[in-house]
Amino acid sequence: MKKHILIVPGDGIGQEVTEVGKAVLVKIAEKFGHEFTYDEALMGHVAIEATGNPLPDETLEKMRNSDAILFGAVGHPKYDNDPTAKVRPEQGLLKMRKELGLYANLRPIKLFDELLGASSIRPEILKGSDILFFRELTGDIYFGEKGRKNDNNTAYDIAEYSRYEVKRIARKAFEAARTRGKRLCSVDKANVLETSRLWREVVQALAPEYPDITVEHQFVDAAAMMLIKDPKRFDVVVTANLFGDILTDEASQIAGSMGMLASASVGDSTGVYEPIHGSAHDITGKGVANPLASVLSAALLLDISFGLKEESEAIISAVDKLLKDGFRTRDIADATTPADKILNTQQAGEELLKRI
Ligand code: IPM
Ligand code: MN
Repeated sequence: MKKHILIVPGDGIGQEVTEVGKAVLVKIAEKFGHEFTYDEALMGHVAIEATGNPLPDETLEKMRNSDAILFGAVGHPKYDNDPTAKVRPEQGLLKMRKELGLYANLRPIKLFDELLGASSIRPEILKGSDILFFRELTGDIYFGEKGRKNDNNTAYDIAEYSRYEVKRIARKAFEAARTRGKRLCSVDKANVLETSRLWREVVQALAPEYPDITVEHQFVDAAAMMLIKDPKRFDVVVTANLFGDILTDEASQIAGSMGMLASASVGDSTGVYEPIHGSAHDITGKGVANPLASVLSAALLLDISFGLKEESEAIISAVDKLLKDGFRTRDIADATTPADKILNTQQAGEELLKRI
């Protein structure tokens, strides 16, 4: 198979982990006889520094012309405590989602058995958890009108959803539930929000088309509690942009570490694959970041954008083997991990490539 992949490392540890993600793609191509070509582009803080724009036109052009995008992270602490900054790395991310029509964000919460002890949740509650989140990614309070009024003394962000937007993400979630445990939980705040009432209406209207799927509706506050209390009761979850942002960070603890979670953003054109963790400037440059989320993102890329199931599985089982052999990066190590099994980013990459 011939494919062109764009690598967008972005900021902070994005640079370090994406290097490993790419190395894995190179290895897979070699092993399975594919011809992957690569290009690289700037986004986020590094793009602002170079061009003044967090998503330069040149990057967007390269994105449109590639078959899939392996993405790192964007962000820089310099903006976090400066609410007045007019240009911010995150604007590039939001613009990319909108421009590429990436309305569906898939966040699989997959728990590797070896990491049962790495979570702050008790193992007997966690064991067997396997959740797939569908977070809507191009609507909601993220993209509605926002501004200031009353002489700058009041601020507002408008949440908006159209029937069409809810329907297309809900459909994707129903379809996915079909290939899994056949249970779909739609999360909203329909007791308060009008957007949520529309959301629930649309999901209820679709349900008869999927008689094989058991549909449940939960309010977001209850769902947040239930995720920790009994994560096994969830199979596929579909929710709005902001709720999905928050719930998936929470759910990352089910997998032991943010450093293990991959995501796929898909929709109208080129798919984007990225870790759910951020740029982590506190550990940037130290070479200790866990590259497995980027590696698992590469696995999602092969599966979803290219339909290469076997190749994708080969990556996942290599990760599995690495963990079974006792290796850990710092974030997933515990008091019982022997010092010689603790790997830095580069070593984790090398050990992984050996197992593919
Ligand atoms: C995410 C991130 C982004 C979001 C930020 C960086 C804008 O937290 O991808 O989950 O809120 O969507
Ligand atoms: Mn987030």
